Amino acid sequence: MIPREIIEEVTRRTDLVALAGSYIQLKKAGSNWVGLCPFHSENSPSFTVFGGGQEGFYCFGCGAGGDAISFVKRIENLEYPEAVELLAARAGIEIPEDASAARRRGPDRSRIREMNKEAAVFFHSVLMNSPQAAEAREYLAKRKIGTPAIRRFYLGYNPADGYALRDHLASKGYTPEEMTAGFLCGRSQGGRIYDYFRDRVMFPIVDTSRNIVAFGGRVMGDIKPKYLNTSDTPAFNKSKTLFALNYAKDFCSDSLILCEGYMDVISMHQAGFQNAVATLGTAITEEHARIISRYTKKVILSYDSDEAGTAATAKAMKRLGAVGVEVRVLRIEGAKDPDEYIVKYGADSFRRLLEDSLTGFDYRLGKIMSGINPDIPEDRLKAAGEAAKLIAGYGSAVVRDTYVAKAAGLLSVKPDSLASDVARERRRAARRQEREESENAISAAQYLGDRVNPESAGNIRAAAAEDTVLGMMLMYDEYRQAAAGGAVRLTEDDFYTSFGKKIFSLIIGLQKSDGGFSFPVLASELTDDETGRLEGCRVRRAGLENSMGIFESAASVLAGESEAKRRGAEHLSLDEILRRKREGTGFR
Ligand code: UTP
Ligand code: MN
Repeated sequence: MIPREIIEEVTRRTDLVALAGSYIQLKKAGSNWVGLCPFHSENSPSFTVFGGGQEGFYCFGCGAGGDAISFVKRIENLEYPEAVELLAARAGIEIPEDASAARRRGPDRSRIREMNKEAAVFFHSVLMNSPQAAEAREYLAKRKIGTPAIRRFYLGYNPADGYALRDHLASKGYTPEEMTAGFLCGRSQGGRIYDYFRDRVMFPIVDTSRNIVAFGGRVMGDIKPKYLNTSDTPAFNKSKTLFALNYAKDFCSDSLILCEGYMDVISMHQAGFQNAVATLGTAITEEHARIISRYTKKVILSYDSDEAGTAATAKAMKRLGAVGVEVRVLRIEGAKDPDEYIVKYGADSFRRLLEDSLTGFDYRLGKIMSGINPDIPEDRLKAAGEAAKLIAGYGSAVVRDTYVAKAAGLLSVKPDSLASDVARERRRAARRQEREESENAISAAQYLGDRVNPESAGNIRAAAAEDTVLGMMLMYDEYRQAAAGGAVRLTEDDFYTSFGKKIFSLIIGLQKSDGGFSFPVLASELTDDETGRLEGCRVRRAGLENSMGIFESAASVLAGESEAKRRGAEHLSLDEILRRKREGTGFR
């Protein structure tokens, strides 16, 4: 695959503090840097970059960890070789030809992207030029989509016969396997390859690096489904992609408009609102929210005015709130969605809607008020309770005071009473959060331990000794030499878990190789979770005392445990496990 010199050079030349700092805000903490983890939702920073950035990162909340390559691999959702290529390009390092050729033969993501591009060019030129597309052109005209928007969004059309795209792609050298893997074609029972998208107007979905990653195709009549979409492929992950973010990212420093559909987005861009994006037929995911928070501080939600749209609004407020994005809600009246509104009332009216969009608070308070009859005292009490909960969720005391005054006025209750209800809610919420955070931390640790190394639960004493030995070997050459050279007696067989065996033999293998040990090279053989797990061992060890004596005693625990295992596996009682756990922590 990629030569180890490249992997090492790329890691050496990448400043992880600057790299991670371009995605999240990092603050100096002693010799480390900390920030909110980009890989899970949290309110207090557990994501840490160690030292000057050369040593790696670790999140104490979710267990993500590793080096610069692992970081971009995770955050950009890349394959390992692609992550190396990205960092190499950033650092101005050239990767030798054969390595990138090997990559092209590997996972076929880039091949699928090339094929999608070929397909988009085909669809677009059919739409613009072919007599077969006359109805599609009329349809778009009827929907008031002009030629500049058709060009900008590179809209297209695939004919109804079912073989147009297939034959075109075949003539360009794409195989049936590639066509089906990319979700452009299906294979019939008889083995015939046919186009998925037939007689549909085509909407290419473009990522922020301008790759065409997927398509949506709309029927022009009443056939179901109205839209057919690429399902997830090696080149496409629906829950991380936003339609039109490739354009909107340059227009959203003030705010981003989030809506439901392709047509809404295109209509808005056409009317001059180039900061509009849509999720692709799904509700907004945590990943979407995190991606959005990297581009903007404010989102105006413009979902359809139906029940599904209201539910989606509530969910989006929660998800976006969790990543610190300010939310406003557009109120559309007289039309079912932004596209219909703009066609009916024009861009200027829509601009006024945007200006009048409600703050998250007003929107929610409005929902509470609309559910009650203000003439009935019981109703007002119920609403006051809900309002107190809502207001308690705001961190700033000044903001809470303003909202208390507003809600008390609307509900005709005393501001002081509402304020003390809010205070009680805040105390309750703080207790709940404390409990949840400690529960989450425990379950995250257990989940991670289980997932990466499930066998460790079977013998806690051995597992703790393994982590000690591996953590020390990852950090210091002294211990790798001792184990590789035989100064401390330790073999793969002494390890209790197969994860431990594997890592130990990889470390020893690298130690004895010409290039010697290197964490980035080791990580290139592991999954993200395994790398995170090891970074965890290393980080914990770094906070503790390390000496040859400690290394030897952990090694002898392993030897002892494996000897005991050979003599016949013992069945441990819970008390025994706990006793051993207490002892096991003695040398950690
Ligand atoms: P809508 O039905 O609101 O579509 O679905 P729309 O964008 O307003 O389309 P027009 O105006 O009728 O042409 C909203 C979004 O949900 C997804 C699409 O992404 C669509 O844009 N969707 C909808 C599907 O994926 N499949 C469907 O069958 C319907
Ligand atoms: Mn619509």
